[in-house]
Amino acid sequence: MTDDEADRQLRAYFERYRNAGIEFIPRPRKSPEEKGAPPMSLLTQHHTPSPPVSDRHQALQLLSEEVKACTKCKELAATRTQTVFGVGPLDAEVCFIGEAPGADEDRQGEPFVGAAGQLLNRIIAACGMKREEVYICNILRCRPPGNRTPRADEAANCRPFLERTLDLVQPRYIVCLGASAANYLLDSKLSIGKMRGRFYEFQGIPVICTFHPAYLLRSASPEPRRQVWEDMKMLLTRMGRPIPEVNRRSS
Ligand code: URA
Repeated sequence: MTDDEADRQLRAYFERYRNAGIEFIPRPRKSPEEKGAPPMSLLTQHHTPSPPVSDRHQALQLLSEEVKACTKCKELAATRTQTVFGVGPLDAEVCFIGEAPGADEDRQGEPFVGAAGQLLNRIIAACGMKREEVYICNILRCRPPGNRTPRADEAANCRPFLERTLDLVQPRYIVCLGASAANYLLDSKLSIGKMRGRFYEFQGIPVICTFHPAYLLRSASPEPRRQVWEDMKMLLTRMGRPIPEVNRRSS
């Protein structure tokens, strides 16, 4: 790595944390090298250190308080029961991004808890993971009245919350559920049918796009379900995870 490249990476790293509301990164404890252990070669260690998990937890908590007070989208702020922040652990292997809260989510304050959420839970389980292990959030943090599609201005208003969430959670992979998530995250206008089936990147994180579980529930055809499973198998393969046997037969 050249000095310029190292400088650029370091600046981008600190900028991400500043954007996420972290102004201060405590000095790390003494490393094994400082304590006299043989030095690890800096030339082969390209990764930059992460702020401690407790700082990121706190920053995420502060971000959720900021979201609760948000009134940038006047109509959404006037009609919501409450805002719906993301759920899941920091450093989740996978972050699922949906469109916006529906009626159940607006009532309960958690993403994907209604019928589409039940199907998402089954998709996650079919991949050999647990809901509690993944991070789940939406393009919008408020329910659009009548569950209409989020408008571009609403997605733009909510985008800093999404980006700051991703900066803090640091998922290893992202799955966009449906066209709204895929289009707004990746700044595309393509249909989800055209976007699925390959990898993209968002700020260095590999991303796949697939059909929204609500679409699967509405569809009379088994084809979209089969395609979602194809997409999830593509992701599991890239993650180096086994493809659960039970699904191989039903796919
Ligand atoms: N649909 C979404 O896109 N998100 C939710 O949280 C619930 C349903």
